[in-house]
Amino acid sequence: MSRDELTKIILPEDKIPKFWYNVQADMPNPLAPGLNPKTQKALTPDDLTPIFPKSLIEQEVSTERFIEIPQEVREIYQQWRPSPLFRARRLEKALATPCRIYYKYEGVSPVGSHKLNSAIPQVYFNKAAGIKRLTTETGAGQWGTALALATKMFDMECTVYMVRISFKQKPYRRVFMETYGAECIASPSEKTRIGKDILAKYPETPGTLGIAISEAIEDAVQRDDTNYALGSVLNHVCLHQTIIGQEVKLQMEMVDDYPDVVIGCCGGGSNFAGIAFPFIPDKLKGKKVRLVGVEPAACPSLTKGKFVYDYCDVEGLTPLLKMYTLGSNFTPAGIHAGGLRYHGSSPILSQLYHDRLLEATAVKQKEVFEAAVLFAQTEGILPAPESAHAIRAVVDEALAGKEEGVAKSIVFNLSGHGHLDLSAYESYHSGEIEDVVITEETIQNNLKNLPQVD
Ligand SMILES: Cc1ncc(COP(=O)(O)O)c(C=O)c1O
Repeated sequence: MSRDELTKIILPEDKIPKFWYNVQADMPNPLAPGLNPKTQKALTPDDLTPIFPKSLIEQEVSTERFIEIPQEVREIYQQWRPSPLFRARRLEKALATPCRIYYKYEGVSPVGSHKLNSAIPQVYFNKAAGIKRLTTETGAGQWGTALALATKMFDMECTVYMVRISFKQKPYRRVFMETYGAECIASPSEKTRIGKDILAKYPETPGTLGIAISEAIEDAVQRDDTNYALGSVLNHVCLHQTIIGQEVKLQMEMVDDYPDVVIGCCGGGSNFAGIAFPFIPDKLKGKKVRLVGVEPAACPSLTKGKFVYDYCDVEGLTPLLKMYTLGSNFTPAGIHAGGLRYHGSSPILSQLYHDRLLEATAVKQKEVFEAAVLFAQTEGILPAPESAHAIRAVVDEALAGKEEGVAKSIVFNLSGHGHLDLSAYESYHSGEIEDVVITEETIQNNLKNLPQVD
């Protein structure tokens, strides 16, 4: 079939990539080193061994262009990978746009999002290192669900600290995690010293990913058999997600097309990194492809944050990483996209954005849900509110193409489905969703608390 006839572009299972693509090999400006939070000296692998296995620490710092995906991981990926690339014909028609819109659908994974792409290898490498239990944070619940399933597959235990506001907004995510055998606790909790302190000071706090990360790390360092796993931000997480963009490139070849624009929503940055990074080498060779990350106006770390050293968590337990940040103690409003309520962005993504190889834009809640509903009504898939941020930007690109009379090729990452986000849709339908935009003053005030790094 020609490119104008295919709707589902499907790769055979033997085309699952055998390697993850490591963009660190191709970055024009290398990453600033991570710093030990106590000494502020460059991190050594020993600083990370209390919470991560050596193999993942090696991936974190590697500058090898390709890193082999273990066969056992590929075999598990086979259950849902390669994921389909769809041509959004009905959406194109509804927008009356000359643009071609494609979406890579990561919601086909058993847990409903891209997060399983990294959960499986993270658990695999921890298991190989003799670890028996993992702790983690989760915002929307997608990452926690992914780690819950992955740990069950490898016969390990799992404790998930779920940001309190999401715990309340999405009770069924907790049930999902518990069904896989994981323990799921609202964060801040009484289970950790950090949680107790925060609850004593701010009993009504909605919680943040930064707090949940601190609790999960505090829990992990107390037991020798326990490590910590992070669902985004870090280099090895972005690395694992590059399976997405590598498949997209093969799928676009199948329809003899190449994107003018690649779009993904940005929380910590992993799904956007996953779809965008494999296009960086082409861009460096002169291809005119735009790579656009989309964040909420309520938590605009790339578009309004500062490119400085900061912690990944609220307590300052993690290494200091150079990234675009709003400050690790920033408490974003309780928007209905818990996975995007993160104060910072992946250091690799931040550096590439700083070097203008990536672009970013911020969108508001109501326009996001408007685009999500249009997508559901045309393509039938109910998107996760996080992914709907990307859809908003896609719709705007396609409308701009119509205005300019340019038939662009637009590809985006539909990072997950929203079947457990129906309460957010209900709020939207009943007119309860408000646009939240943080003011410049709030941002500047919050940035005053950044750690001092010499
Ligand atoms: C469906 C979905 N998309 C995107 C994100 C944002 O995370 P990241 O920027 O790491 O892809 C999340 C996070 O929970 C998510 O659940």
